[in-house]
Amino acid sequence: MKDKATGKSYAKIIWFGEHSVVYGQPAIAIPIYSVDVTATLKKIPSGQEIHCRYFDGPISEMADNLRGVKTLTNHLISLFGAQDLSFDLNIESKLPSERGMGSSAATAIAIVRAFFGFFEVNLTRIQLLKLADIEEKITHGNPSGLDSATASSNMPIWFVKNEINEQIDFNLPTSSLVIADSGIKGKTSEAVSLIHDNIVDEPETAKPLIEELGKIAVSAKDALATTDDERLGKLMNQSQRDLAQLGVSNQTLDTFCRVACDNRALGAKLTGSGLGGCVIALAKNQSDAQQISTALRSAGATQTWIQSFKNYQFSTGEA
Ligand code: MEV
Repeated sequence: MKDKATGKSYAKIIWFGEHSVVYGQPAIAIPIYSVDVTATLKKIPSGQEIHCRYFDGPISEMADNLRGVKTLTNHLISLFGAQDLSFDLNIESKLPSERGMGSSAATAIAIVRAFFGFFEVNLTRIQLLKLADIEEKITHGNPSGLDSATASSNMPIWFVKNEINEQIDFNLPTSSLVIADSGIKGKTSEAVSLIHDNIVDEPETAKPLIEELGKIAVSAKDALATTDDERLGKLMNQSQRDLAQLGVSNQTLDTFCRVACDNRALGAKLTGSGLGGCVIALAKNQSDAQQISTALRSAGATQTWIQSFKNYQFSTGEA
């Protein structure tokens, strides 16, 4: 056992397939290296303390997430038979919470990695995702697993619930995604049950939309393979229309998408659960990305990030 260990993870954005992924459709999601979470576990003389600091304030404001963190920590303590351990678990997150960037999954991944590092035990990817799911179930109800799979990946991933979770490589050397935070919280569990209710109440409308979102993800994978950024932009716009029809967009997110497209974006859509949170816009080059980012800030985005597709590195199986 070490005196101190840290675990890291990343924010995620879902490029294609949020919500439809819950119903078995494929999705494409991307880890955002510059927006990370670090969990540090260290021995202290006495007591058991958990401190969490998020980008937009201390986690103590968010009872739901804290409950998940505590349950996961207790689970890990008993897994390692360390009930008598006096420790301080410090979580520093650059992610805003409840904005569709996978804050809770990233926190869970970082915590699990910190514990396994601390107890010097090898961690498999399957184990990592299973353990993260303990926290995710408390925070989100019935997650697809996409958030944890992305938060723990070094590469963009192609994901089908309970089936496929694989890294995808593509070549878009000059393009980037602009991420804009609306500053509005959107609860994943609420958005997921809203869509569930729509499927039950209006299956003739909602089911084809879910299927179309899956087809869009398949087309997007194809567009990535042929480096067709114009097509990717159009597919993003189509996704946004479908998600809005399913009821998880709002006026601010719609406005952000329009502003992005008026400022040279190839396409734009909400990302994650919606109802608030972030919009992503595809930019052809760095100067377009800057223009889109500036325009979105003028339109009210509380924060923007620019993520290029360079520097992703395949990892080979390690957790
Ligand atoms: C939330 O980040 C993504 C959703 O598709 C829910 C899930 O996959 O569990 C809305």
